[in-house]
Amino acid sequence: MSEPIISANEDQVDQMDQMIKENKKIPDSVKRKLYRAEKEEKRKFLKHARFDTPETLPEEITKEIMEKNLDLPRKRFYRQRAHSNPFSDHQLEYPKSPYAMDWESFYPGFVNQETGKLNKKVEIADIGCGFGGLLIDLSPAFPETLILGMEIRVQVTNYVEDRIIALRQQHINNKDFFKKYQNINVIRGNAMKFLPNFFQKSQLSKIFFCFPDPHFKNRKHKARIITNSLLSEYAYVLKEGGIIYTITDVLDLHEWMVKHLEEHPLFERLDKNWESQDECVKIMLNSTEEGKKVTRNNGSKFVACYKRLNNP
Ligand SMILES: C[S@@+](CC[C@H](N)C(=O)[O-])C[C@H]1O[C@@H](n2cnc3c(N)ncnc32)[C@H](O)[C@@H]1O
Repeated sequence: MSEPIISANEDQVDQMDQMIKENKKIPDSVKRKLYRAEKEEKRKFLKHARFDTPETLPEEITKEIMEKNLDLPRKRFYRQRAHSNPFSDHQLEYPKSPYAMDWESFYPGFVNQETGKLNKKVEIADIGCGFGGLLIDLSPAFPETLILGMEIRVQVTNYVEDRIIALRQQHINNKDFFKKYQNINVIRGNAMKFLPNFFQKSQLSKIFFCFPDPHFKNRKHKARIITNSLLSEYAYVLKEGGIIYTITDVLDLHEWMVKHLEEHPLFERLDKNWESQDECVKIMLNSTEEGKKVTRNNGSKFVACYKRLNNP
């Protein structure tokens, strides 16, 4: 592990020092706690940082980020239960409206230096983005488009934030560094609640649902991320002609998503020929962590893409 930019919580460090002195094996839970504490401190400063103007950061951080690369986060320190109940409260905070969001802090590299404002809005959303593989691969494919992942699990969201911070920092010396990975970010949120509080009507051009939780049991189907009422919310935030992308390895879930999308009056399926030529389908097939797992296990991947029709 490289030297920490800022030390972790002192009590935790003392605890570890003591264990080292006593020649005790440090339990994984303590290591994980320390690792997370250290990353959290960095994250506080770096997640909204513009790396092309580091003088706005505290001096010790500026020195560190100019001198050496930040490590990419290690996934094993961010593990969390696979499923999160989308109906529980999670004490999440929601903006009163999309206008109440401080979007500038999510995409500092796109903030106009004179006005201090963003001159564009998020256009692509990755719902249930997991560990962020799709965001990372979409970033260079749509360098001028703002892309947001929404993820309900706190540690997973932290991992994606740390991954983006590290990638932004690692590209600091590129000629066009201020744009690299500056167009992606992640927010912790429950996409099944209050999506229109984050996005305005017709704001999005693409929404991705990659390998959503299958909620296999009948009584759990209501927790699926595609339902009639949620589709109406997705139609609200999507612009006319915008696209919903879905992919899963679970045939039953694929059929469920297709059934609900077919039934909805504002969506129309795009055919296989369209899919085979679309850049995002190619990216989505191979970039997400779940997708890679399915490939390793020789599983099937079922894709369905739908166009948001014009309002009647
Ligand atoms: C099976 S994982 C797939 C992750 C990623 N899309 C991929 O393909 O690797 C499903 C993800 O959706 C997240 N999730 C489930 N329900 C959600 C909700 N209502 N809002 C936001 N994220 C959600 C889960 O925490 C989990 O990370």
